[in-house]
Amino acid sequence: MKVVLLGYMGCGKSVIGAFLAEKLQIPFYDLDNEIEKVTQISISELFQTKGEIYFRKKENEVLKTFLDKKENFILSLGGGTPCYFNNHELLQQDDVFSIYLKASTDTLVNRLINEKDKRPLLHNQDEVTLKDFINKHLFDRNFYYHQATKIVTVDNKLVEQIANE
Ligand code: S3P
Repeated sequence: MKVVLLGYMGCGKSVIGAFLAEKLQIPFYDLDNEIEKVTQISISELFQTKGEIYFRKKENEVLKTFLDKKENFILSLGGGTPCYFNNHELLQQDDVFSIYLKASTDTLVNRLINEKDKRPLLHNQDEVTLKDFINKHLFDRNFYYHQATKIVTVDNKLVEQIANE
């Protein structure tokens, strides 16, 4: 089984993914890291030099490569991955179990306010605008996020509790 974690930036996909992989003794991959390996450039630089559309194409290509693999693994997606090209359809394949890690806007704001530098889409946000920005994004993305096989809420929960669920 391929376990795929999805959800908004800051919901904990990478931390939970690494924890689960350790527990289940299967490999863990982070899609952003894999895109960086393929392109030999950081996600921030990729956005800056080539633009978001180029990033989304690479994201789609690398996702396809992963879902074609025969092995079992845990894969954490980027926050926008299910929402572009045919990615949400690819995630419906029989051997994929997808989990939406659902965080409230307040949790996301608290986590992301000090982590904007790592995330190109948040560079222009400040404390006043971030909440509206996330709410708008969630409104656009919820349709895709809710196609996950399972939804796990993460607010006020420890990593272990979320991984157990
Ligand atoms: C993005 C989320 C990021 C990364 C890119 C775009 C998004 O991944 O893929 O900056 O569109 O939400 P994380 O969710 O791992 O931060």
